[in-house]
Amino acid sequence: MDDLIDAAREIQADAHVPYSEYPVGAALETEDGEVFVGCNLENANFSNSLHAEEVAIAEAVKNGHREFSRLAVSSDRRDGVTPCGMCRQTLSEFCDGDLAVFCDEGEDEAPSKYTLEELLPNTISQETLE
Ligand code: THU
Ligand code: ZN
Repeated sequence: MDDLIDAAREIQADAHVPYSEYPVGAALETEDGEVFVGCNLENANFSNSLHAEEVAIAEAVKNGHREFSRLAVSSDRRDGVTPCGMCRQTLSEFCDGDLAVFCDEGEDEAPSKYTLEELLPNTISQETLE
């Protein structure tokens, strides 16, 4: 399997999910081939929980990256995972509509592939506000 999917699968092990017991891993690849990973980190007040995609993109951006080509998200629980609406909007701040998004549910199934534009058409962007 692709290294990016493997990275998203592996980082699930670091998720802090005592409330949902639903670990999610995300791996975001920059245009120049670096990979930044994130996992979900839940909070006892529930609403402060960080999503795996948010953690991955924060890690990439704070390391100076603003150009991305692919994202993999993975959860081997229930029916896998796709980025939630909030994460789609967060990704759209830094990623173009042609970002490839691979949604993975573990080793037994092939990941589904989407573009960010398919997952979030007509997003609000910096241009919208000009
Ligand atoms: N979760 C993510 O990490 N990413 C998503 O986009 C979907 C949801 C997490 C948040 C929470 O810890 C758990 O999955 C259940 O919603
Ligand atoms: Zn989310």
